[in-house]
Amino acid sequence: MPNPVSVRSLSSTEQRLNDLRARKARSEAGGGQARIDAQHNRGKMTARERLDMLLDEGTFQEIDALVEHRCRDFDMDKNVIPGDGVVTGHGKINGREVFAFAQDFTVYGGSLGEMHGLKICKVLDMALKTGRPVIGLNDSGGARIQEGVASLGSYAEIFFRNVRASGVVPQISVIMGPCAGGAVYSPAITDFVIMVDKTAHMFITGPEVIKTVTNEVVSFEDLGGAMTHASKSGVSHFTADSDDAAIQLARDLCDMFPSNNMDRAPVRKTSDNSDRSCDALTDLIPEDTNKPYDVTDVVREVLDDGGFLEVQADYAMNIVCGFGHLAGHTVGVVANQPKVLAGCLDIDASDKAARFVRFCDAFNIPILTFEDVPGFLPGTNQEWGGIIRHGAKLLYAYAEATVPKLTVILRKAYGGAYDVMSSKHIRGDYNVAWPSAELAVMGADGAVEIIHRRRIKNARNQEQERERLVQDFTDTFANPYKAAAMGYIDDVIEPSETRSRLSRALLMLLEKEEIRPAKKHGNIPL
Ligand code: HXC
Repeated sequence: MPNPVSVRSLSSTEQRLNDLRARKARSEAGGGQARIDAQHNRGKMTARERLDMLLDEGTFQEIDALVEHRCRDFDMDKNVIPGDGVVTGHGKINGREVFAFAQDFTVYGGSLGEMHGLKICKVLDMALKTGRPVIGLNDSGGARIQEGVASLGSYAEIFFRNVRASGVVPQISVIMGPCAGGAVYSPAITDFVIMVDKTAHMFITGPEVIKTVTNEVVSFEDLGGAMTHASKSGVSHFTADSDDAAIQLARDLCDMFPSNNMDRAPVRKTSDNSDRSCDALTDLIPEDTNKPYDVTDVVREVLDDGGFLEVQADYAMNIVCGFGHLAGHTVGVVANQPKVLAGCLDIDASDKAARFVRFCDAFNIPILTFEDVPGFLPGTNQEWGGIIRHGAKLLYAYAEATVPKLTVILRKAYGGAYDVMSSKHIRGDYNVAWPSAELAVMGADGAVEIIHRRRIKNARNQEQERERLVQDFTDTFANPYKAAAMGYIDDVIEPSETRSRLSRALLMLLEKEEIRPAKKHGNIPL
């Protein structure tokens, strides 16, 4: 006969475990099989599948699986699903700890109620305390309508934490379904937004409200699809063609970044010799200085293994921003793109690059600048749109950045744009130029028109005189040697030496320390 006491205790332990397992299973089942099937039929993965793919196998540790909403209105007390429509926790990406959350569209459409929001807040708080990145996988109908202001309160709690964590831990948002109304502001505050093409949509007000208010007719896709935000609004930084690809991109980004602002990005091993000669660069610049070329050819030739992850590749394409490695170290690259608008700086390019530079500076990522800029884009659109204030952002961002700043002037460095693009005067650390560089207030044709107008007008052969003066100006200013003589650049280098010189300078600068005056915060011209 078994001992009755031990039978009783064994059975109560079993009961408790069974109860726990049933509760967890209920949480894991989300909105049920029919809704999971519907999610799959739309080409979308479930929240848990997404987290499994995001994190190294077997490393996900869930938090708050048993949290329930507290809403009693609209019969919500009869519809309680543990977990409350968001799966939260932590795990590893290539061995490094991160925090993550994934909204579960199968539960109340992933809508954000009070407790759903507070679960995300808990993860943000823990990420901040421990100095780990946060990745949010968004798929939500927005504020949970039944919960009213409680839902809005939780949103604001999230926004507040996003702001507090900004510049302390990297924050990445992946949009994998709807993201509407004020809900868009959490991703907008985070550092990078990745959108899945066709299934992700972001907007403040949807097509129906727009039709009522402004009479405009627009589809979901045109209004707030991935390509719209990648090319028109600049809200998103990357477009992925599937859930799978978006998640892989988030992993790749995490691999490039330090875990927090006191940390350094992991050093990546490479067999690419940092002294490798870049012979392909020798003849890259066309003889005709007005002819375009693709600056990404320069970037890829210089970086380790030609690896370059471009950020906002379809937005303000006159400037190229992205991440790569040099001598194993993560670097942020900013490059004027001569094949779009001749590489001029305009409003959008200034905004794009300024935000990128500030991210790099916040997270100790050295900045490499490749410069070929004929100036700021002229025109009433630009002036009335506030190019003064937008251009000032880029100037401000470069000037406040204290990470190592390395600049190569490839060709044109004209006017205010010369100063802005990480010049020595705003504390570039290592500034060099190719022999093809031209550092001047403006191009020869424009300059001659202004300073020699009367002389040309009075000349017997005006065309001949103009050509002579343009040649004279070109001989005087269209080269890097005046700047080299003044120490405004540290050297003139052969294009083939670019990788080797930058790698050595970067290694020399890694321990750089530069102190700026203490302040609450600056007042960047927004
Ligand atoms: C509660 C919601 C919900 C919401 C969707 N659901 N959105 N429940 N609050 N905001 C529920 C639906 O009732 C449904 O439940 C399930 O989620 C799936 O929704 P469907 O409509 O069947 O799916 P679909 O056809 O794919 O359309 C998805 C959708 C649509 C485009 C997201 O549901 C929609 O337009 N929802 C409302 C979006 C919205 O206006 N949100 C408020 C934005 S304002 P069942 O039980 O049938 O499966 C906002 C303010 C935030 O968010 C402010 C922060 C400061």
